[in-house]
Amino acid sequence: MLHDKLGREIHDLRISVTDRCNFSCVYCKSADPKNYVPHRDLLTWEEFLRLSRVLVGLGIRKIRVTGGEPLLREGVVDFITRLRDIKGLEDVALTTNGYLLPEMARDLAAAGSPRVTVSLDSTNPEKFTKITRTLRSYEKVMAGIDAALDAGLRPVKVNIVLVRGFNDDEIVDFARLARRRDIVVRFIEFMPLDADHAWKRELVVTAKEIVHAIQPVFSLEEIARHSPSETALRYRFTDGQGEIGIIAPVSIPFCGQCSRIRITADGKLRTCLFSLNEHDVRHLVRNGATDHHIARFMENVVHQKEPSHRINEPDFVQPSRTMVYIGG
Ligand code: 5AD
Ligand code: SF4
Repeated sequence: MLHDKLGREIHDLRISVTDRCNFSCVYCKSADPKNYVPHRDLLTWEEFLRLSRVLVGLGIRKIRVTGGEPLLREGVVDFITRLRDIKGLEDVALTTNGYLLPEMARDLAAAGSPRVTVSLDSTNPEKFTKITRTLRSYEKVMAGIDAALDAGLRPVKVNIVLVRGFNDDEIVDFARLARRRDIVVRFIEFMPLDADHAWKRELVVTAKEIVHAIQPVFSLEEIARHSPSETALRYRFTDGQGEIGIIAPVSIPFCGQCSRIRITADGKLRTCLFSLNEHDVRHLVRNGATDHHIARFMENVVHQKEPSHRINEPDFVQPSRTMVYIGG
């Protein structure tokens, strides 16, 4: 088992397969596209697969493919198929902005139906354009969600990052979406990982506020988590029709139960979203390291995983890499 010096078991890996994205969400990416990592510095599919196999050998049970926008990188469906073939890997998931799902949902279902999470930050087309800073994005993403459901991908999760003044007036509309069959809606507190450095504590809409906004319209009751390392607080509508999740890293940190590590598109191992140091595995992979050597390196790095994020500490420092590089 892969574990850190605090005894936390690490069984979730997130792989950011590209730093490219066709959206520029206000809470994530800069609107300036000039900062891309050169293609030769991105890990190849073979390199990602090799690292995944080594990590599954060490105890990783679940891999989430993310980005940037993962569906932009050619070969991603085949990559998912090949991840599915890794013995010992129990779960493969995909986080996408949904824009390319109308074209790709069927192929994804054929690739072994990864669990799909789509980001959707407004139910209003104009507001959606403002948040994603991308024209005609709303219609495509809504069509993408339907395409995923039609292709049989289940459940389809919808992630909403709430930013005060932007979309906090839509909490009840999102709750209504959660009442549609096979859609699980999850609200996420805004974290200081945005390229614009616009994050302020006042912009965070907390878990408590979210529950208070929904409760008068749809009565909610808390339900038990699937596992201790699950990040979302879960609530069910008391009439039995659907559920929501709230991911509250700022107001209710869950670092003590964290089971995650990440690999960036350019081959850096990150032990926390808020890591200030990254560990270069691309160098090892491209300079003849054996699987054994890579495994020992990863074990050592994971051992030093940060105890917690420091968002609520006075000396908090925002990492220089933003969410589009790190992978949500
Ligand atoms: N705070 C919280 N969540 C974020 N995401 C991106 N940036 C942030 C942020 N600053 C999430 C989005 C998306 C996933 C890729 O990461 O919800 O679903
Ligand atoms: Fe792209 Fe996702 Fe970041 Fe939006 S949140 S800019 S869709 S990577």
